[in-house]
Amino acid sequence: MTEQNVVTQTDAKPVPTLPDAQTVTSVKHWTDRLFSFRVTRPASLRFRSGEFVMIGLMGDPHPETGKQKPLLRAYSIASPSWDEELEFYSIKVQDGPLTSKLQHIRPGDEIILRPKPVGTLVHDALLPGKRLWFFATGTGFAPFASLLREPQTYEDYDEIVITHTCREAGELTYGAELIESLKADELLNEVIGDGFWKKIKYYPTTTREESAKKGRITDLMRSGEAFADLEVPALSPDTDRAMICGNLAFNLELKEMLEGYGLVEGANSNPQHYVVEKAFLD
Ligand code: A2P
Repeated sequence: MTEQNVVTQTDAKPVPTLPDAQTVTSVKHWTDRLFSFRVTRPASLRFRSGEFVMIGLMGDPHPETGKQKPLLRAYSIASPSWDEELEFYSIKVQDGPLTSKLQHIRPGDEIILRPKPVGTLVHDALLPGKRLWFFATGTGFAPFASLLREPQTYEDYDEIVITHTCREAGELTYGAELIESLKADELLNEVIGDGFWKKIKYYPTTTREESAKKGRITDLMRSGEAFADLEVPALSPDTDRAMICGNLAFNLELKEMLEGYGLVEGANSNPQHYVVEKAFLD
């Protein structure tokens, strides 16, 4: 290649960057339906562990005008508020407008990230309590991946119970590995103290494949089996606080059950006993 060619390359127009662009730093595929990825964090972005942001990619060009519009969806931030990068945990929907494309991202690619975090799965929306329950299905585990790495979770509660219901055992791996990794988490061991992770009770269940515990968490609670396995009493507004994040039917069913135990739904402006957020699907 001649010197001339090199100069010509330098003169080439820079590739246009996306608005609110962040760069993908790593991608991990967990199953053919699930993947997680990390991106750079905007220097100005502050958020509370458990919140979500809108992220996405540019859509296809309009067939007539050629114009492209951003294709954005709400994604819980799966990394804690102190992390220098942002992590997300996503489903892959083969004909989904966003995730059919997003599942192909690689390190170095750019995504769009609107730096306006919001959400109700935050400590501020709950009154003080003794035991904190995280109820998740599928990718609804994401906000809890953030909150489980947040020191306040262990400062505020004596016990943290995580239930995660998925169709198949392979869909539990992201959560299971994350929980296992907490034992060696330097910040949490330093801030909360060695053995802080003994506060955690993890209760994964599957519904369409055999695993250590089969069944929907809702059914396992109704029968009392979940409480017996976990060696904790049924929820009470005196001691228990809860956060729910799963598919719509799950959220509604569990909400009704928690109300049945006497828990009241809270919000940022009115902290109470439990909060709910939908796991956002494509
Ligand atoms: P099931 O297999 O019995 O439908 P999805 O992948 O469809 O979002 O579901 C994730 C998990 O949530 C599945 O294990 C599913 O169980 C479970 N699930 C769906 N609806 C409910 C509900 N109303 N209560 C409890 N679990 C539910």
